[in-house]
Amino acid sequence: METPFIFPRAASIEAPLRLAVLISGGGSGLASLLAFQSLEPRCHRTVIVLADSRNAGGLEHGKSAGITTVGIPIPMGLESTERRLAHENMIQSQLKSSKAEVLILSGYMRIFTPSFVEKWKGRIMNIHPSMLPDFPGAHPHRDALSAGVTTTGCTVHLVDEGVDTGPILAQREVPVLEGDNEETLQERVKKVEHVLYPETIDLFCRGRLSI
Ligand code: GAR
Repeated sequence: METPFIFPRAASIEAPLRLAVLISGGGSGLASLLAFQSLEPRCHRTVIVLADSRNAGGLEHGKSAGITTVGIPIPMGLESTERRLAHENMIQSQLKSSKAEVLILSGYMRIFTPSFVEKWKGRIMNIHPSMLPDFPGAHPHRDALSAGVTTTGCTVHLVDEGVDTGPILAQREVPVLEGDNEETLQERVKKVEHVLYPETIDLFCRGRLSI
């Protein structure tokens, strides 16, 4: 039987949901969420920032906001499945000690194993830079440009056992312009992500979204 989605408790400004944000790179999405959270009282707050390496640039955003940040590199010297599981165990132990309640994937470029997803199903959210189900995977901008589409966008979804397949919570379109390359398209899409993701996280934490 499929593992059900179990949603987080109802949050309030007095008892905000404790978010863990997971990143792999520069963390511009993390920065936009932290800015959103610092603007006014919210029913969520970021309690830990985790990255899959120690030198992910985005860890600095967490540090300068006074949030616990931990880079957890993939352990060496194990067979690939063992390595993934060992890495996820280290992540899980940080999540436990920070008492995180919801996981926000923000440019986190690794796929969780089904056993990890099972523990968090209904409480892991991701943003993907395409209009899913179009262009899942690691190169959505390259794929959109190769397909010659004139519109792409971004999708916020709950994570399930598949790759970019979970229930969609929100989507927003972005035009592809004449002469775009991967970088120009990525930058235009990110600007929209930085508004859509914090707004969607906020609605989700207030219990205003259903699947
Ligand atoms: C964002 O565009 C995000 O949607 C994408 O990585 C970028 C991270 O940028 N995520 C994925 O492609 C996940 N499959 P950032 O590090 O500047 O926030």
